[in-house]
Amino acid sequence: MFDLVLKNLKLLDYSSEVSLAIEDGKIAKISKSSIEGDKEIDLKGQLVLPGLIDPHVHFRDPGLTYKEDFRTGSMAAAHGGFTFVMDMPNTVPKTNSYKAFKEKQKIAESKSIVNFGLHAGYSTLDEMEKILELNPMSFKVFMDLETDEDLEKIFEDISKLSETNKKPIVTVHSEKRDIVLEATENLKEESEAIAYSYGRPAESEDASVAQAIELSKKYGVDLHICHLSTKNAMNLAISNNVSFEFTPHHLLYDNTAFNEFGTLIKTNPPLREKGRNITISDLNENSIIGTDHAPHSLEEKTKGVWDSSPGIPSLETVLSLLLTEVNKSNLDLNLIPKMFSENAAKRFNLENKGFIKEGFDADLVVVDLNKEGVFDIGNFYTKAEYSPFDGLPYKGKATMTIVNGEVIMEDDVII
Ligand code: DOR
Ligand code: ZN
Ligand code: ZN
Repeated sequence: MFDLVLKNLKLLDYSSEVSLAIEDGKIAKISKSSIEGDKEIDLKGQLVLPGLIDPHVHFRDPGLTYKEDFRTGSMAAAHGGFTFVMDMPNTVPKTNSYKAFKEKQKIAESKSIVNFGLHAGYSTLDEMEKILELNPMSFKVFMDLETDEDLEKIFEDISKLSETNKKPIVTVHSEKRDIVLEATENLKEESEAIAYSYGRPAESEDASVAQAIELSKKYGVDLHICHLSTKNAMNLAISNNVSFEFTPHHLLYDNTAFNEFGTLIKTNPPLREKGRNITISDLNENSIIGTDHAPHSLEEKTKGVWDSSPGIPSLETVLSLLLTEVNKSNLDLNLIPKMFSENAAKRFNLENKGFIKEGFDADLVVVDLNKEGVFDIGNFYTKAEYSPFDGLPYKGKATMTIVNGEVIMEDDVII
């Protein structure tokens, strides 16, 4: 007898309904014939996908827990169908020392209801060498905060790290600091939210992505670009064989959305002009979705174009947003597990994750493709009290999230 058997479910690779048995937190058996378990759940023909993996979240813990903490963030993740998140290092203190990294691991272990990995901040060579022992998902470089000289040094230092295990990945926020500073200075009298888009112009991302690629080649560093938002930068990354992430907001909106949502949709990098922006037609079998779930307090989000905090919470909307596009025939359903699970698991070397296969971890999301509703942030688990998607209709939703073989979310309720 197995611990748990899911019955009458659809998998994308099978033409008929199957049963899926879970034992000790792993997928033990997938079969077209019936299997018996200590516990059985009839999924009545719903689709099961590998649990979603988000390579890019900001859970603000420690130090900024009035915005989010590892408990609320991971509950939001589970609500959205995510079973694995990778947290960014811009917390307080930054996750750029052995001590801070260990401390955050402890916090996450005690509070997180989903599996997690941590991105590290960069620091001295010595400290980064020590952090490597703790298996960081990557070293994250906020290129928008650094001078050219400092970036040269950071990439050089990272290239010197010993490769005892695997070569570390360097994830980058790519916007060019000097271009942003100058453009922002020129526009500082503007008060319309859309000015933000031109204060951090598309050219600054294009130039920064080019610089990141050049530095990664020069120093032999394994590069991954976060929240890529311009067509030019995307083409550059593709032609240089560099991996990157798309956010839901950059895929679905251009900068005219500033006129509708104001500073609530302010984010770095900002939404781009139509024509220069990436769109869902750019998604393909190699794509990775990273939400850049970046919650702030409502007060921080409403301080005018230049002083409002950049960031959008996305964990609880992204799957439904893209399933809605599937239902409108704008997107191929077969891409969903690739861009939400498989490709991130492969890129970040997550063993036994990202696929529904016997022997793999039982991290799963059950999806009702026909479930219709309207996003209501009143029912969200994130501490963020805003979303540009609030009130929008959707079709397609996560109805159950299973982590390590245990049901942790069912019909919007965290268990
Ligand atoms: O919009 C953003 N918000 N971009 C970033 O790079 C940081 C993030 C945050 O931490 O709020
Ligand atoms: Zn960023
Ligand atoms: Zn981010």
